[in-house]
Amino acid sequence: MVRKKIVRRAGIVSVGKYMPPNVVTNFDLEKIVDTSDEWIRERTGIIERHMVKNGEKQSDLALIASREALARAGWSPKDLDMIIVGTVTPDHIFPSSANLLAGKLGAIGAPSYDVLAACSGFLYSLWQGVVAIESGRADRVLVVGSEIMSTLINWEDRSTCVLFGDGAGVVLLKAVDAPYGIHDMEIGSDGRFYDLLHMKAGGSAYPATHETVEKRMHTLYMEGSEVFKLAVRKMTEISESLLERNRIRPEQLGCFIAHQANIRIIDSTTKRLRLKPNQVYNNIDKYGNTTSATIPTCLYEAEEQGMIKKGDWVLLISFGAGLTWGGILMKWAVDRLPKTEEVAVDTVSDVLSTKLRPGGDWANQ
Ligand code: UT7
Repeated sequence: MVRKKIVRRAGIVSVGKYMPPNVVTNFDLEKIVDTSDEWIRERTGIIERHMVKNGEKQSDLALIASREALARAGWSPKDLDMIIVGTVTPDHIFPSSANLLAGKLGAIGAPSYDVLAACSGFLYSLWQGVVAIESGRADRVLVVGSEIMSTLINWEDRSTCVLFGDGAGVVLLKAVDAPYGIHDMEIGSDGRFYDLLHMKAGGSAYPATHETVEKRMHTLYMEGSEVFKLAVRKMTEISESLLERNRIRPEQLGCFIAHQANIRIIDSTTKRLRLKPNQVYNNIDKYGNTTSATIPTCLYEAEEQGMIKKGDWVLLISFGAGLTWGGILMKWAVDRLPKTEEVAVDTVSDVLSTKLRPGGDWANQ
């Protein structure tokens, strides 16, 4: 891909996160399928995950996380020029979850759309937001990764049902002064491997019938070990290419965040890159694989724990179904963000009671 000279640089200036409170442990899963806490921990690094229980929608998780990010930046939803949501679990096929999120936020008039790129959904969405700012078409963009993966799980397939969780993470983007902000990025895909990780039914190829439901075609299918090998190879390759062409040595990275699919994938990748543990942030142990939400939730927590400071090099890397992949290299653009307790954020129940429009609120029921 041709790289053009960037005249205006975009940077992340706030973050938000929301995990539904209901926690499902490995021991809970032992009661459902033939598995063990030991197998799940050793083979994946996952100890527990969060899953919706009280009817929260995917756009609700996104809404709570978005309100937090906006409050921490001191922005009003009316300031937003664009809302992009990476997800494979939108509330409905249409309208998009981004449309519903924009409506619930009161960001009326702002373009809003979903990006379907599976585990790379957040980095694809971030890529688009950055391009919009670099081109001067937008000044303030909300980028979301939000999923309710628990709705796609085949609870009879022990090789996948233990892996996933629900949650949302968001970032706010705006133009920032050099040398801060996003320096380089790369996204790509290879559709020849579409079948390794997919959900067959639910789209126009296999609309819902008794047969699609009986055959569990509305649930996720994965050939795990194939995806595993490709993930390690591709995530290492993108990381090396972004670092080399920007003349940054791995030891200069302040924080490396990879899509959280399996701790062994991340460990193999970081070993090949010769990164030290204190340069890598993971949260797969607490949340499992939340698809497009893994990277923004890691970013949120790394910032919260003081691991990322203004001026640090941060590298974000993803790989997933499609196949799709992405990498974004940035110099962190902000001083420590205000803690959520220090800013006025609506309570979760207030946020969840947001009505889209009196009398027309089926999307919220
Ligand atoms: O987010 C998008 C990208 N996703 C990924 O990158 C995921 C990539 N893949 C993986 O993370 C791993 O391949 C898995 C975690 C899915 C599977 O781990 P694995 O080490 O590749 O296991 P495997 O599929 O080779 O299976 C090894 C054994 C099998 O038993 P046999 O045939 O050797 O007797 C499985 O049946 O482990 C068995 N197994 C389990 N045992 C207990 C598979 N799942 C489970 C389970 N509990 N939950």
